[in-house]
Amino acid sequence: MAVELRRTVEEARAFTRRVRAQGKTLALVPTMGFLHEGHLALMREGKRRSDVCAVTIFVNPTQFGPREDLSRYPRDLEGDLVKCASAGVEMVWAPEREAVYPPGHQTQVEVTELSRGLCGERRPGHFRGVATVVAKILSLFRPDVALFGEKDFQQLRVVQQLSRDLDLGVEIAAVPIVREPDGLAMSSRNSYLSASERERALALWRGLRAARALCARGVVDARELVGAARAELERQEGVREDYVELVDSETLAPIIRVADRPARLLLAAYVGSTRLIDNLELRESCE
Ligand code: PAJ
Repeated sequence: MAVELRRTVEEARAFTRRVRAQGKTLALVPTMGFLHEGHLALMREGKRRSDVCAVTIFVNPTQFGPREDLSRYPRDLEGDLVKCASAGVEMVWAPEREAVYPPGHQTQVEVTELSRGLCGERRPGHFRGVATVVAKILSLFRPDVALFGEKDFQQLRVVQQLSRDLDLGVEIAAVPIVREPDGLAMSSRNSYLSASERERALALWRGLRAARALCARGVVDARELVGAARAELERQEGVREDYVELVDSETLAPIIRVADRPARLLLAAYVGSTRLIDNLELRESCE
C-alpha cells in the first residue's frame, strides 16, 4: 500500500482529524530519515499498539551544533517512503524547515536536569533542539503513543519527561536497540564509516559486553565496570572515547555501584571523525 506524503502543518492537522473522526488510535514515530531496521522496529511497534502509524522525517537544524554534521546528514526520502510502506505506515510527514520554524519562531523547550550530563554536556544546546522539535511534533499530532529507541537513551528520558511536564497526554514507549548481526547498534551515522572504521566501531559493543561480563561475575563497582568498557575503546586504534558512564536509568545521575535500581552503562566515542553512541542495561545479576 502506498504511503501518503505530507509537508505542511495544515495537512498534518487534517490527517490527525481524519484518524480521530474514524475513531482510530494513532502511533507516531519521529525520525530524521535515512531509515534502517532500528527505525522500522519503532514503526512495527507503533502498528502493534495502534490502528494507524505516522512517521515524521525532519533533519532538525536546532539540535546540531555549529561544528556538527547538519549539511552532510544522509538523506533518502524515496527509499524511506518504500521502507515506511513495508512497515504498514499510513502517512509520512516530511516538512520543510520553514514549516517547523517559520520566520519569527521564538519558543524553545528545555528539560533542565536530564539534559545536563552525558551527551548534553558534550553537545551544548542539543537537547534543547530535540525537546523543542519533539514538543512541537507531539503537540501537532497528539498521538496516543509515540515510539522512541533506547539507542538514544538520554533523548528517550528527556522526551518522557517533557511529555509529562507539558501534560501532552502522549504515552512515550521505549523500543530496545536494534543491532547489526555483529553487535554494532544501527544508526544513520554508520553510513559515514569506511570499511576499516566499520570494523573499529565494534569496540563500542565490545566495551559494553566486557562490562556486562564483569557484572555477570558479580562486579558491581562503577569504576571497574566503566574501566572495563573504557579499556576496550582504548585498545582499539582509531577510536577515541568521548565518555563512558554508569548512571541510574531513571534520573541519569552517575552511580557508584549497580544495586537494586535499574542501571545503564552509556558511552560515546569517535571512530575517525564520526561520533557514535551506545548503551546497555546492567543489573545486579546480569546474565
Ligand atoms: P533519528 O536518529 O532518526 O532516530 C529516530 C528514532 O529512532 C529515535 O527514537 C532513535 O532512538 C531510534 N533509533 C535509532 N537507531 C535505533 C536503533 N538501532 N534501535 C532502536 N531505535 C533506534 O533521534 C532522532 O532521529 C531525532 O533526535 C528526533 C527524535 C527525530 C528529533 O529530531
